[in-house]
Amino acid sequence: MAVEYVTYQGIKFPPAYNSEQSLHFAHKEFQVQDDDVFNVTYPKSGTVWMIEILSLIRSGGDPAWNRAVLNSNRVPWFTTRLGLETALSYSRPRLLTCHLPVQLFPTSFFGSKAKVVYTLRNPKDVLVSYFYFSKMCSSYEDPESFEQFLQDFLSGDVPHGSWFDHVRGWMEMKGKENFFFITYEELQQDLRGSVRQLCQFLEQELDDRAINSVVENASFRAMKENKMCNSTLLPRDIMDQKKGTFLRKGICGDWKNHFTVAQSEAFDRIYQDWMGGLMEAFPWDSC
Ligand code: A3P
Repeated sequence: MAVEYVTYQGIKFPPAYNSEQSLHFAHKEFQVQDDDVFNVTYPKSGTVWMIEILSLIRSGGDPAWNRAVLNSNRVPWFTTRLGLETALSYSRPRLLTCHLPVQLFPTSFFGSKAKVVYTLRNPKDVLVSYFYFSKMCSSYEDPESFEQFLQDFLSGDVPHGSWFDHVRGWMEMKGKENFFFITYEELQQDLRGSVRQLCQFLEQELDDRAINSVVENASFRAMKENKMCNSTLLPRDIMDQKKGTFLRKGICGDWKNHFTVAQSEAFDRIYQDWMGGLMEAFPWDSC
């Protein structure tokens, strides 16, 4: 069945929870508070992983706090109808999450002291993860084929828009005091070190025991078993577990099992055009 996406300012969004009004409200009217912390990602870059890390840090490493409330309540998706209600009634300081590109982010953020944690992932791995996710999640069009999905991804014709635009837009924030930039690959390589850096950015001191708990509970193994993270509580008409697994592989470099040499070369050419001008070296550029 064809999915009718919601379009806001030229970008399409999944219809289940987003509406043009909720996106407009989030963009133009949502009042950001100085003590808000935003988890921002392009889809499939480790959003739920960072939600888990941030809320574990917030709770001082207490997994019981995390399990007490569903994901969406803990760190609401304030661009969606339901998430917005939660965000507006949420006691401060708030943790919030979204996939918005920078140009659609709440305008009130830009004069505030609120913080953004932006997680970025190798786009080839994002693409593979997105391909499988689109098959199991009813808010997304089931891709016709991997090749077609690749073409759509490269042209930016996927929900939440172009990965390249998203990343280039958010990279403009790099170096600002209230912006923390990290990659999925860094989280993989050194979760403990990443958690320590995040604590510093959030000005939250955690002792070694609390850090150990964050690292343990945010591991792929623990999150795969945790119903608050693994999406198995979602009804089948939203997320069909028979068609896939949300916490699928959780590795770096799975793209190598999916791309042909020609597909990889075509991707690299477009990647170079978009990203080549950035002075930034990303962890995946060397592999
Ligand atoms: P894969 O499909 O490659 O396995 P998002 O939350 O942005 O939708 O991203 C989902 C991706 O992050 C999935 O990638 C998922 O397995 C991975 N992920 C989630 N939690 C993780 C963890 N603790 N460790 C490693 N990868 C994780």
